[in-house]
Amino acid sequence: MIDDIQAARETALARLAAASTSDEVRAVEIEVLGKKGSLTDLKAGLGKLATIDEKKQAGAALNEASTTVASALAARLGELRRAERAVQLEVERVDLTEIMRRPQRGHAHVVTQAWQRLEDVFVGLGFQVAEGPEVETDWYNFEALNMPTNHPARSMHDTFYVEHGEPGSTVLRTHTSPVQIRVMQTIPPPIYMIMPGRVFRNETTDATHLAVFHQIEGLVIDRGITLADLAGTIESFTKSFFGADFTSRLRPSYFPFTEPSAEFDIRTPSGEWLELGGSGMVHPNVLRAGGLDPEEWSGFAFGFGIDRMAKERHSINDVREMYSNDIRFLEQF
Ligand code: PHE
Repeated sequence: MIDDIQAARETALARLAAASTSDEVRAVEIEVLGKKGSLTDLKAGLGKLATIDEKKQAGAALNEASTTVASALAARLGELRRAERAVQLEVERVDLTEIMRRPQRGHAHVVTQAWQRLEDVFVGLGFQVAEGPEVETDWYNFEALNMPTNHPARSMHDTFYVEHGEPGSTVLRTHTSPVQIRVMQTIPPPIYMIMPGRVFRNETTDATHLAVFHQIEGLVIDRGITLADLAGTIESFTKSFFGADFTSRLRPSYFPFTEPSAEFDIRTPSGEWLELGGSGMVHPNVLRAGGLDPEEWSGFAFGFGIDRMAKERHSINDVREMYSNDIRFLEQF
């Protein structure tokens, strides 16, 4: 009897180890532990044994064999079910990668678009494009632009200073006007140049002000340039950039680097006036700082904000939105 129990036990364990599907495991369960299973049959034969001792020994062996087979069965069933589930998942997997990875066509940032359009319009009017450094010396940013130390106009610019060289000698440029000087120093006139770039002001940001923003500078140096040339250039620019139904005006103002100076405004078709930027005839001191003789050369300059242009063009309420890096906002432009 004990030998039969051991044999049934070993056969069952061997078959379980060899089983490759959960159905095979269930078949072993029925054949060994089921109503007519081999171990169940042996249990029924216990009563036929002669002695109490034999019955005890065989009963214990049967219990041991049943629990061992039952736990081997559960373990094998678990293993096979996991494997079968993995296969099923693999088979039923839907390949979403084609939808997910289809490249989204990007586009230039709304401010870059304005920058590029401005360049296009001015290039169309015969201007060339130059750029200068964002980290400037005090001399280029202020001094050469007729703003010596302690000049009251310096307080119009809240300046970020860079720890470099003599204290106060290096700044993040507060406007693109220093590039005027650099251009005058490197290119012999006549000069018809625009100078777009990033500028920095140490001030609190709000819906209409950023501490880091963009300007575009214009500089014309030639013989016999007058205020009429400035007004004409602003007017042609206004019409080419905004449309033929827009017009412009100059309003007296003050900048240390131009004399006379004027703010320029544009008039929308609905009759609204928008302040755009500053302008004027290049001051003789500025021409001299650029290495040019004011007796021989004259010119005009203008400068305005690029971010402002993008804001007005798209009726954006808050300039800070343009730099929030929210794709849902930027996608619109
Ligand atoms: N640099 C001036 C500003 O930032 C604008 C300006 C440029 C004015 C050129 C006159 C001439 O406000």
